[in-house]
Amino acid sequence: MSAAPTVTLSHGSAMPRLGLGTSPMNDDDAERAVATALELGYRLIDTAENYRNEVGVGRALKGAPREELFVTSKFNKRWHSVEGARTAFEASVEKLGLDYLDLLLIHWPNPDQDQYVDAWRGLLALREAGLVRAIGTSNFKPAHLQRLIDETGEVPEVNQIQLSPIWTKQENRAFHAEHGIVTEAWSPLGKGSDLLDRPDVVQIAKDHGKTPGQVVLRWEIQLNVVPIPKSANRERLAQNLEVFDFELTDEQIATLSALDGTGSAPADSDRSGH
Ligand code: A2P
Repeated sequence: MSAAPTVTLSHGSAMPRLGLGTSPMNDDDAERAVATALELGYRLIDTAENYRNEVGVGRALKGAPREELFVTSKFNKRWHSVEGARTAFEASVEKLGLDYLDLLLIHWPNPDQDQYVDAWRGLLALREAGLVRAIGTSNFKPAHLQRLIDETGEVPEVNQIQLSPIWTKQENRAFHAEHGIVTEAWSPLGKGSDLLDRPDVVQIAKDHGKTPGQVVLRWEIQLNVVPIPKSANRERLAQNLEVFDFELTDEQIATLSALDGTGSAPADSDRSGH
């Protein structure tokens, strides 16, 4: 099996168009899943301070050719300052056993705390110092992104948001496209919903001889979204990477997009975050 194709971020990094999410896995589960994923051809591995599994992820990364990996981490709100971002970076790379990160994200904007612009200035300094190759945000709404742009003149390279056919996030994607921000999707399979059992999804999967999970991931790929499905199961890990050999029709894309809003409400980053 070959690695996923890549998309070029605004500062030049090549980011795989699909990766492995590791929440919620503990150190041991993450070590096993990441080791299997690397064997299968995954190159983008997504972790976070908050998942408490960076040590396990790091154990699995040992021995893999560093230049082939694309390792992402994220930090919590207590580090929302210039110095804090540096401290959070140092803690992550120490746990991961790395000396640089491919992508570091502000995990949640936490607008009540109102320090995410300082966190962003901290990320800019880390990128300037060559310690992180690319920088971005997670769970930022267009208004939060606009504020970063207005106050620093610098645009995040990636924004990772909760996105799947039941939450298509059209407005967010339009804003990202307008500003050259790559959209990454967490819970791309609609975890916690019945998305993969929906008759439309099942029928489209049958039409292509694929599984419902593969169809949903393919919908994201065709929308230029980078999905990071989590799986602890070897077969599903393999399946989730095999989404670059078929194409959904415009009608099938529209059918899947029409599921927007049919699940419970997604997380609201103006109200929650850590
Ligand atoms: P498992 O780890 O047993 O494979 P998300 O990434 O949207 O949060 O979804 C993750 C959940 O979906 C996990 O519970 C995972 O379980 C399951 N999952 C991952 N890949 C697939 C797939 N291809 N088909 C069905 N379920 C999947």
